[in-house]
Amino acid sequence: MEIKTADWKTEKHVPVIHAPDSVRAGEPFDVEVVVGEQISHPNTADHHIKWIELYFVPEGGTTAYALGRVEFEAHGEMQIFTEPRAVFRVVVPGSGTLRALALCNIHGLWEGATDVRVV
Ligand SMILES: [Fe+2]
Repeated sequence: MEIKTADWKTEKHVPVIHAPDSVRAGEPFDVEVVVGEQISHPNTADHHIKWIELYFVPEGGTTAYALGRVEFEAHGEMQIFTEPRAVFRVVVPGSGTLRALALCNIHGLWEGATDVRVV
């Protein structure tokens, strides 16, 4: 499946990553991933975000290490919803890039990324 990306300010599928610009080596920090931050994505039985995954790619490397995955199960049945938003508490060994993937059941796989600097 093709992985798409775009400007999250104009494309509702792109996962937005909130993380500190710089963190201390060996210390945990929170990474929040949100789909539909600027323009909300539908959340219905027919059209919804199924899951978010978060990866870390060390600076200068090519391997993406999996940090976690959150599945969203409630899409309006009985007016119950899970919104596509998740927080991961992580520790990384050095600077690198956080990459998030989100899967829409209709529009496929989308990626967002942000750099994190370890000081
Ligand atoms: Fe969609």
